[in-house]
Amino acid sequence: MILVTGATGTTGSEVVRRLLERGEKVRAMSRRGVAVPGADAVRADFADPASLAPAVAGVSAVYLVTAPPEPVVDHDAALVEAARAAGVERIVKLGAISGGEPGTWHRRCEQPTRDSGLTWTVLRPATFASNMLPYAPMIAGGLPLPDWTSGGAVGIVDPRDVAAVAVEALTTGGHAGRAYTLTGPELLTFAQQVAVLQRVLGTGIGTRDATMDDARTMMLDRGMRPDSVEESVAGMTRLAEGGYAVLTGDVSAVLGRAPGTFAAWAADHRQAFGGAGGTRGAPSAADTP
Ligand SMILES: NC(=O)c1ccc[n+]([C@@H]2O[C@H](COP(=O)([O-])OP(=O)(O)OC[C@H]3O[C@@H](n4cnc5c(N)ncnc54)[C@H](OP(=O)(O)O)[C@@H]3O)[C@@H](O)[C@H]2O)c1
Repeated sequence: MILVTGATGTTGSEVVRRLLERGEKVRAMSRRGVAVPGADAVRADFADPASLAPAVAGVSAVYLVTAPPEPVVDHDAALVEAARAAGVERIVKLGAISGGEPGTWHRRCEQPTRDSGLTWTVLRPATFASNMLPYAPMIAGGLPLPDWTSGGAVGIVDPRDVAAVAVEALTTGGHAGRAYTLTGPELLTFAQQVAVLQRVLGTGIGTRDATMDDARTMMLDRGMRPDSVEESVAGMTRLAEGGYAVLTGDVSAVLGRAPGTFAAWAADHRQAFGGAGGTRGAPSAADTP
């Protein structure tokens, strides 16, 4: 049995789908305990360690997704502790590209997994292409998208590739003690991502420059803890300075094929940019590397 945490989320839902496709036994965990055909569903919360014991019982491997804001490091520690107590053998931990730098939020989140004594693999993806999805209502409404990045480029990655790498690490050998930095095939600034999206959607999309102070204010207004806001701003600043303008061959090395392009991701999600909904005022903590 493989436990997939964050099973309702961007990569977790895709990991569940791909594992089931391979005929694996899957337990899908989230706080909502959403039913997934073909998988066990379990409702558990990292903030409630007692709820984790039934989630890890009888499990051999865990896909570990915790989501900022704080106290997310405690969430990682709680799951790892429960996994060790239950005799889990392997953990594949979703982190972020910033985990490559000591002292960062994501590096601290990796630590319980790395110290677990279990077989572990850490995934450090760059910005997900899917971060564009919450902008769909603004695009539909003709509103300019806020650009916090000051022209900093990222190796934007298709989250389906992240999930595919996770499935390999969960089900095949050769990934123990590895930290994979997962990028797409090209470095793109936010403006370049928007240009690709415009081309694919055949619609005009405006952008407007936004400052880190705007971002800080909006995250605080949304009720994020001040320490989480500062962690997020640090990641966003690093990105704006070009600190995540990195491309690696890790997706190709694990999957044996090139990573997907942002244009291909956009083409596959054209429909999602037609809908309505709330407008997005600020980046979410989980969107920052
Ligand atoms: N977005 C990006 O560009 C990006 C890039 C690199 C790395 N990352 C990292 O990837 C991770 C996931 O971020 P994401 O935006 O993709 O989120 P996500 O996986 O789409 O959503 C978070 C998932 O975690 C579950 N969850 C949240 N709080 C929980 C709790 N207390 N206990 C149990 N389950 C909980 C949620 O389900 P319920 O609400 O149903 O519980 C949901 O399934 C984060 O660490 C983020 O920093 C993101």
